[in-house]
Amino acid sequence: MKSRNLAAVAAMAVVMGLASNVALAESDQEMIERGAAHFRIFCVNCHGMNADGKGPLAKILKIQPADLTTLKQTMPEGMTVQERVFRAVDGRHKVGEGQERNMPVFTDNLKFNTVIEISRFVEAIQK
Ligand code: HEC
Repeated sequence: MKSRNLAAVAAMAVVMGLASNVALAESDQEMIERGAAHFRIFCVNCHGMNADGKGPLAKILKIQPADLTTLKQTMPEGMTVQERVFRAVDGRHKVGEGQERNMPVFTDNLKFNTVIEISRFVEAIQK
């Protein structure tokens, strides 16, 4: 192969590399946006439009919805924000001995992907 061809191949590889990085960045952004859209359907009533726990239903709940923008500030050792959201949504997260949860378990109504997108959104809005 002539060196000019080699240079062309190398240039092509760089362009393709850049393109795939761009695609990755876009799909992560898209994932966050899809997560936000799901959040507005399934979570806003309690957690509010700003995910700060001040949704319209909060008033009538005995246990107040968590501020989801500050989860990162009180993380259990070794847990990620995404995992914490999963545990809340699938019911593994327990509030306290003898306390009602006040948050529904969503495992039967949400697709795995939907929960991934929601958890990615929640991770992206951490303060
Ligand atoms: C009916 C009201 C209600 C809805 C709807 C609701 N939540 Fe909650 N959520 C709560 C309440 C109340 C708490 C605080 C008590 C607790 O920690 O379980 C909470 C706590 C949480 C926590 C914090 C758990 C922790 O580890 O401290 C996360 C994360 C969470 N919710 C995510 C979600 C997501 C995501 C959705 C939508 C799929 C959602 N919630 C829908 C009421 C709700």
